[in-house]
Amino acid sequence: MKILITGGCGFIGSNFVRYFSAKYPSEKILNVDKLTYAGNLQNLQGMDKRKGYRFVKTDIASARKMKDIFKNFRPDAVVNFAAETHVDRSIYTQGVFLKTNFIGVGVLLNCALEYGVEKFVHISTDEVYGSITRGNFREDSVLNPSNPYSASKAAADGLVLAYYKTYGLPVVITRSSNNYGPYQFPEKFIPLVIFNAMENKKIPVYGDGLQVRDWLFVEDNCRAIDLVLRGGKAGEIYNIGGQHERANIQVIKRILKILHRPPTLIEHVKDRPGHDRRYALSISKIRRQLGWQPRVSFESGIAKTMRWYQKNRGWLKNTQTGAYRSFYRKYYSKLGLSET
Ligand code: NAD
Ligand code: TYD
Repeated sequence: MKILITGGCGFIGSNFVRYFSAKYPSEKILNVDKLTYAGNLQNLQGMDKRKGYRFVKTDIASARKMKDIFKNFRPDAVVNFAAETHVDRSIYTQGVFLKTNFIGVGVLLNCALEYGVEKFVHISTDEVYGSITRGNFREDSVLNPSNPYSASKAAADGLVLAYYKTYGLPVVITRSSNNYGPYQFPEKFIPLVIFNAMENKKIPVYGDGLQVRDWLFVEDNCRAIDLVLRGGKAGEIYNIGGQHERANIQVIKRILKILHRPPTLIEHVKDRPGHDRRYALSISKIRRQLGWQPRVSFESGIAKTMRWYQKNRGWLKNTQTGAYRSFYRKYYSKLGLSET
């Protein structure tokens, strides 16, 4: 199989590239990433030595460049991780969210149709369903996004399904809950808490901190995405939930305890506008149809994640100073790779 992975230098994408590469060592991988502030080639250090792996720096919203990529590589399958992903940023800068998360997806769908892709896996999010006080969302629940990020993802989901209904493009959508694990950019909650706690910095808690997220260890998500890629039915949506619901404040207290830091680091700040109170997913469809369920408990996942961040302080520091962004330029010239 020749697989085109977009956004492979981000958090989940890079974990997936490593997972896929280790599981299928002879399959060809093309990773296309724009290398925004969230994309980091250091996440895939060593991958360039793997036979059959290639990286191209490109924007998925560029129709001309993406067409060339499809024409030359002729992928059998596409897994689209590329997106602007941070809710807080989307509240203040909406344009790039619409461009990448909707227009970019449209470009990929057109290319996939033109070049006869056999499977198009679109990575979406539980946030498209909005907030739920009790119970959980199924794949056929009504979409009710609350912020520009989740609204852009919901719009893309509609477009992806339209390409199945109108043109028969074999698409599948995954909607996962909040991921955590190695290589997550420290603007997101868990790595931000770990980083600030390690540095003895204040930890900003939005509002009362009683908002609930369902935490999914990233490796469990990669395994689910692979199952959906191989066995997911065209035109279907699969929820992927961690089944580990925790209030934000509980997560912070756990991390502080493991790191022997005082609760005085916690600082309640103004709440995020449109803040979803609780996310929760039913995973009975993926469990029944593809035999998936999460394997990593929150306790062991968080311990693994903290060990990784403690061991990779240099990586963390680089993301704070922006040093990682100049890394790829040196990397390009060293390896003589091409930029498009
Ligand atoms: P991330 O922000 O860590 O990485 C996104 C990657 O996409 C980066 O490498 C970035 O450079 C790249 N990118 C952004 N715009 C691009 C463009 N126009 N063209 C090409 N590449 C571009 O995100 P993540 O947390 O790894 O999320 C990956 C996907 O999973 C997203 O689609 C997101 O909506 C979805 N998702 C994430 C979570 C989560 O908890 N992180 C949960 C559910 C779903
Ligand atoms: P985040 O990682 O931004 O994911 P999402 O909003 O997409 O679920 O945030 C997770 C939760 O943590 C969310 O309820 C907002 C909250 N949060 C804070 O309380 N403080 C912070 O500094 C951040 C980044 C998030």
